[in-house]
Amino acid sequence: MSKDRLVIFDTTLRDGEQSPGASMTRDEKVRIAKMLEKIGVDVIEAGFAIASVGDFEAVRAVAEAVSESTICSLSRAGVQDIDRAAEALKPAANSRIHTFIATSPIHMQYKLRMEPDAVVERAIMAVKHARNLVADVEFSCEDASRSEFDFLCRIIEQVINAGARTINLPDTVGYGEPGEYGELIGRLLNTIPNADKAIFSVHCHNDLGLAVANSLSAVMHGARQVECTINGLGERAGNAALEEIVMAVRTRHDLFPVDVGIDTSHIVPTSRLVSSITGFPVQPNKAIVGANAFAHESGIHQDGVLKHRETYEIMRAQDVGWHNNKLVLGKHSGRAAFKARLEELGIEIGDDNAMQLAFTRFKELADKKHEIFDEDLQALMNDMQPAD
Ligand code: KIV
Ligand code: ZN
Repeated sequence: MSKDRLVIFDTTLRDGEQSPGASMTRDEKVRIAKMLEKIGVDVIEAGFAIASVGDFEAVRAVAEAVSESTICSLSRAGVQDIDRAAEALKPAANSRIHTFIATSPIHMQYKLRMEPDAVVERAIMAVKHARNLVADVEFSCEDASRSEFDFLCRIIEQVINAGARTINLPDTVGYGEPGEYGELIGRLLNTIPNADKAIFSVHCHNDLGLAVANSLSAVMHGARQVECTINGLGERAGNAALEEIVMAVRTRHDLFPVDVGIDTSHIVPTSRLVSSITGFPVQPNKAIVGANAFAHESGIHQDGVLKHRETYEIMRAQDVGWHNNKLVLGKHSGRAAFKARLEELGIEIGDDNAMQLAFTRFKELADKKHEIFDEDLQALMNDMQPAD
């Protein structure tokens, strides 16, 4: 992968699912994964294969259904975890094992109860074992932002020698600050002798509302993979939002001279799909995908936009999948409008019979409801999906 390419690693199905109340069924995960593939996500972290039978099956089902994106499973730095991940990933066209161990003094002492030397040994063993099973291995230093710099240099140099090709430096507890975190990534890249053999990655949590800022600062300092989720879903206050990272990099290419392979025109439908499956609404003022993200209420702004769009707009709504000329769907709507809206929402309908059934259900609903909104369509289609 070129050094000027920013790898987009989506963890909606793993870290996103760790958000309390956001658990997804296997089939729901497959639907989201197919949408992530469609928008051009490079790596999809489909789950944590050893966590449960359901997670194992979800990783396997995603690995079967998706061929363009690399499919990844998380695993702790242990043989059993790694074997289970490799087993789940077998059907994948491109697979990655993501193994991790904590590297901060507080985690090593109280959580792992391990000496730093033993942590390094375990990490090397895990990466070597994973490399015997798949070619693409990522290693994460959990709680990297609270780890000691010299220790990070030591463990990273060793795991690169052991075969890790992506090194991830999570801000696990959202403690980082943009200047400091970006500098950490830059210093590591400049200090570790074999750093050029791996892609350095960031994974930021949003406890202080800084996940996107921290990720972008790291990109400025040389990180070339960002781990993120749709709508910023994730553990506690969430992860960095994919749509914000991608649009920041695209809109401010002057500051971020990297390419992302994302087709942004499907971002809003992807956001809606994740929201309807998880039941987590998108706040109206959420950047990029909130209902008000491109709405102008004040007279001065409306006047300005009518005279020249760029007076108050730095992005085009259509470029992220908002459609201005929305046709209202109701009982008089025809099959073409119904089908077009499903496509906009990223809902695949299958064959003609499935289309006929969906259209009949839509008409039944439209008889009871004046206007059919996107959320109604999502719910209708969710009801039509086969159960796990
Ligand atoms: O936040 C974190 O540290 C993680 C790792 C497991 C990558 O999610
Ligand atoms: Zn995380």
